Amino acid sequence: MEPSVGPPFFHPSTLVRTAMRESVERLWPELQWISDDELREQVTRTWMVAMERSPLEPQDLEQIPFTLLIPDCPATFMEHKRCVVHIARRSAEAMDEFLGRALPIDLDVVIAGAILADVGKVLEYERVDGVAVQSARGQALRHPFTGVAVAMECGVPDAVCHIIATHAGEGNMVKRSTEAWIVHHADFMSYEPFKTLKK
Ligand SMILES: [Fe+2]
Repeated sequence: MEPSVGPPFFHPSTLVRTAMRESVERLWPELQWISDDELREQVTRTWMVAMERSPLEPQDLEQIPFTLLIPDCPATFMEHKRCVVHIARRSAEAMDEFLGRALPIDLDVVIAGAILADVGKVLEYERVDGVAVQSARGQALRHPFTGVAVAMECGVPDAVCHIIATHAGEGNMVKRSTEAWIVHHADFMSYEPFKTLKK
């Protein structure tokens, strides 16, 4: 038999995975803010797995509204999510500067939690006639629950899963960590004003 020559063999799923990783890293430049290599990889993989299971494509996140709760919401999913990460980081840095001696804050946990807080949202959507609407799964399980499930599967530490679990209203029943309070307020201060925005 002739020896085989040609390019090295790549399984198609490997190529899909590589493409998804590139898409996730392009969506989230803030991943580079996570200083711990293992945590950065766990957070990246969580987004990859969620997007693989979502009916949405990565580029859709730069077009769809960030919430279905506000009719004709004028901000996109990524605009809002990245804004939350930026607010959370700067808030954590200010708190650390003035209160750090009394109130220790893990900046990596804040950033990872803020990046992952809404990862479950991509499982709340489905496409009907080209329009993104709430899925049956989204009705049964809001994104804090599905987000924690995917993150735990990807090895994300409990301190970060705690932020995903408690960032929204469900978390009002839980004793939030300092990092979770920061992400919760960053999320709500960039969400609540849209509810009273004059159009
Ligand atoms: Fe959320």
